[in-house]
Amino acid sequence: MTSASATMAWRAGLRARSLPAARWSQRPSALLPKRAERLPGAVRYASESAPATATEPVKEAAKELPKRAARKSRKGLYGTSFALALLVGYIYGTDTRASIHRYAMVPLIRMLYPDAEEAHHFGVEILKSLYEYGMHPRERGNPDADGALATEVFGYTLSNPIGISAGLDKHADIPDALLDLGPAIVEVGGTTPLPQDGNPKPRVFRLPSQHGMINRYGLNSKGADHMAAVLKQRVRDFAYAAGFGDHEGSEQHVLNGDANVPPGSLVPGKLLAVQVAKNKLTPDGDIDAIARDYTYCVDRVAPYADILVVNVSSPNTPGLRDLQAAAPSQLS
Ligand SMILES: Cc1cc2nc3c(=O)[nH]c(=O)nc-3n(C[C@H](O)[C@H](O)[C@H](O)COP(=O)(O)O)c2cc1C
Repeated sequence: MTSASATMAWRAGLRARSLPAARWSQRPSALLPKRAERLPGAVRYASESAPATATEPVKEAAKELPKRAARKSRKGLYGTSFALALLVGYIYGTDTRASIHRYAMVPLIRMLYPDAEEAHHFGVEILKSLYEYGMHPRERGNPDADGALATEVFGYTLSNPIGISAGLDKHADIPDALLDLGPAIVEVGGTTPLPQDGNPKPRVFRLPSQHGMINRYGLNSKGADHMAAVLKQRVRDFAYAAGFGDHEGSEQHVLNGDANVPPGSLVPGKLLAVQVAKNKLTPDGDIDAIARDYTYCVDRVAPYADILVVNVSSPNTPGLRDLQAAAPSQLS
C-alpha cells in the first residue's frame, strides 16, 4: 500500500467511526428504528438495519413478568397477613379477659400518667372513644347464660353478682362500656344537685405496695342536670335503635318498658344504679336544705335509674356521715 492510499484508508476508517455522531446531528431519520421500537404495531422494514438490541425489551419484559407476578403475590400476602393480624388483634384486644389489659395497658397508663387522677380521666376517655367505634373490651360469648351466677336483688334476677361501684364513672360517660365488661350492676355518680369542683388537687393517690388507692375527690360533679341530660340522650339513642323513632318523647317507650329492658341498664339481667349526694356548700345542720338537695337529684335522674343510691357515707364531704343518724323519712 502506498502512503497516499494508506492515508485514504485511515481517513475512511476515521469517518466510519465518527458516523454515529454525524448521523445523530445530520439525519433525524436515523432515529426511526428507535421510534419504531417505542410505537406498538409500528412497521419495521427489512432494509432498516434491525439492531441486535431490538429484542432486548421483549426479553426484559418476559423476565419482568414473573417478577411482577411475584411482587403482586407478595403484596397480597402482606395485605392478607396485615388484615389477619388486625382481626386477631381486634378479637384479642376487645376481649375483656385478655391479659394485655392487666399486664400491659395498666402499667403503660400508670407510666404515662404519674398522677392517678389524670390516669383515671384518660381511662374514662379512652373507653368512651373505643365504645363509640365498637372497639371497647367486652365479655365474649355469654358466660352468664347457664344461670350459675344468677342473683336475686330487690326481686330482680341479675345475671351475676358483680358490680362496679360509684366513683369510676362520675359523670355517666361510660355506663354501656362498663356494662359490656361483664358486671350486672354499674353505679354511676355520685352526682350533686349543683355542679361542684370537689377538693383541691392532688386528691387521688396510688398505694402500689397495697395494690390500693386513696380517694379524696370530694364528690366532684357536673351536677344532676348534666347527668340527667346524658342519661336521657342515651335512652333516646337506644329508643331510636329499637325502632321507636327519634323525636321528643321517643325515649318514653323505653322508660315505660316497651323495649323489654330495664330503663336504666337497657340490658336484660343488668341494672344501672345512680348515686346522689348533697352539695358541699349545703349547710350540714339544715336538714330541710339537705333533703331538698337529695330530692332535686332524685327528680332529675330517677327516670333513668334502676337503682338510686343515697350517699351518706363519703368521708370527703364534711358532715355527710352525720346524716346516717337522720331517719330516712327526714330526707324524703
Ligand atoms: C377514685 C375513687 C372515687 C370514688 N368515688 C366515689 C363516689 O363518688 N361515691 C361513692 O359512694 N364511693 C366512691 N368511691 C368508693 C368506691 O365506690 C368503693 O366503695 C371503694 O373504692 C371500695 O371498693 P373497692 O374495695 O372495690 O375499691 C370512690 C373510690 C375511688 C377509688
